[in-house]
Amino acid sequence: PLSMSETPSYVQIVKDTAHVVAPKANDITAVFYPKMLTNNPEVFKYFNKTNQRSGRQPTALAAAVVAYAQNIDNLGALTDAVTLMAHKHCALGIQAEDYGVVHKNLMEAVAEVLGLDGNGDVAKGWSEAVLALAGVLINAEKELYASAEARRGGWRGKRMFEVDEVVNEARDVVSVYLKPQDGKDTPEFTPGQYITLVENPSKDVLFAPRHYTISCRPSDAKDRLRITVKLLRGPTSSVEDGIMSSFVNKLKAGNVVALHPPFGVASIPYAPPPAGEDGGAVVFLTAGIGITTSVALAGLEIESGRRKAIFVHGDRSFESHPLAKEIAATGCPCLFAYSAADGAAAATGLPATVTVEAGARLT
Ligand SMILES: Cc1cc2nc3c(=O)[nH]c(=O)nc-3n(C[C@H](O)[C@H](O)[C@H](O)COP(=O)(O)OP(=O)(O)OC[C@H]3O[C@@H](n4cnc5c(N)ncnc54)[C@H](O)[C@@H]3O)c2cc1C
Ligand code: HEM
Repeated sequence: PLSMSETPSYVQIVKDTAHVVAPKANDITAVFYPKMLTNNPEVFKYFNKTNQRSGRQPTALAAAVVAYAQNIDNLGALTDAVTLMAHKHCALGIQAEDYGVVHKNLMEAVAEVLGLDGNGDVAKGWSEAVLALAGVLINAEKELYASAEARRGGWRGKRMFEVDEVVNEARDVVSVYLKPQDGKDTPEFTPGQYITLVENPSKDVLFAPRHYTISCRPSDAKDRLRITVKLLRGPTSSVEDGIMSSFVNKLKAGNVVALHPPFGVASIPYAPPPAGEDGGAVVFLTAGIGITTSVALAGLEIESGRRKAIFVHGDRSFESHPLAKEIAATGCPCLFAYSAADGAAAATGLPATVTVEAGARLT
């Protein structure tokens, strides 16, 4: 719950200075990450270096702190954002004690960028605010870890899964079927959730785990989970291919891998239609490997019959289009648009519900 029983004085300080701090948020996080890497390299076992390179995570943290400051009188507005962060953090296995490291380095960065006295009221006010936000996240994550463990087939931390089968789905894409090595239940999950693969195929000891959407419906996951993974090739020959996706594409039946439980908040809002009206349709607009989330989410619509599912998918060609036949076989209306002029050449034997377009301009 994001309510405060009393209004601490830091709230006033944060309100009074938010307009100064907000425009500096990106500068602060840009100082914060290198600082944390120097002071506490161990926490970089959580951070995906590819995302660091793209600058995505610095922006996300900055945005969250600013959003917190701007909503400090109305923290209820942040509930969805807190839930999203908690799922991401739990998927990575982040622990309450890691927050101390983030807080310390972040506050040093704030003082440095704003030229503040680290012991002054403004620095203390922001320190309290970040601690309060950390407290909210720590509580949310504690509950989420407990519920991931309490679910049928749930667990906490790592659990070993054996590769039961590997299926080639498309060029550079495989599906890997995973069954619990302990012979017990597969985990309950909601469509659109992802597991986290906690393996380190790299030379870097601080290699972050990677997330993979469970690419099947819960009803098809009674004995084994399916993930569908695209090998991310290097943009040029001098850059190595994606590390985890290469590892997954080389897995064989009998190999054993460690997973964190399913987390994630993907869902499509649904409200029952007024009596006598149908539920309308959901259009699943996907490209490339992004199709994995739709397979599970659309399953919910198809199995319940509550709404029509329509698939629109863009890819280079039918050969590179994962799960195309499986989606076509649902009998739902489909538009498969391929950018290559001969992209539809292999798209034969599809039901009449599928429209195929080659040479499509995908932007
Ligand atoms: C919630 C969620 C769900 C996901 N679900 C799926 C899914 O269902 N299926 C799926 O396949 N993926 C999925 N992903 C993506 C997945 O988690 C990984 O990010 C993906 O497999 C790439 O990881 P990697 O270790 O192979 O690549 P990385 O090693 O992180 O490399 C990524 C890319 O960067 C390139 N690269 C590396 N170094 C450089 C450099 N110096 N300069 C330029 N480029 C460089 C690599 O060649 C590669 O193309 C999901 C991600 C999230 C967050
Ligand atoms: C007050 C404290 C924190 C805030 C406000 C915060 C905020 C965020 C936000 C907004 C995201 C993006 C979520 C998404 O879009 O999926 C994120 C992701 C992440 N957070 Fe935090 N976080 C905090 C603490 C921590 C701590 C303590 C750690 C670990 C030391 C951590 C590690 C990460 C990692 C590794 C990611 C994923 C980054 C990636 O994309 O690779 N965070 N956090």
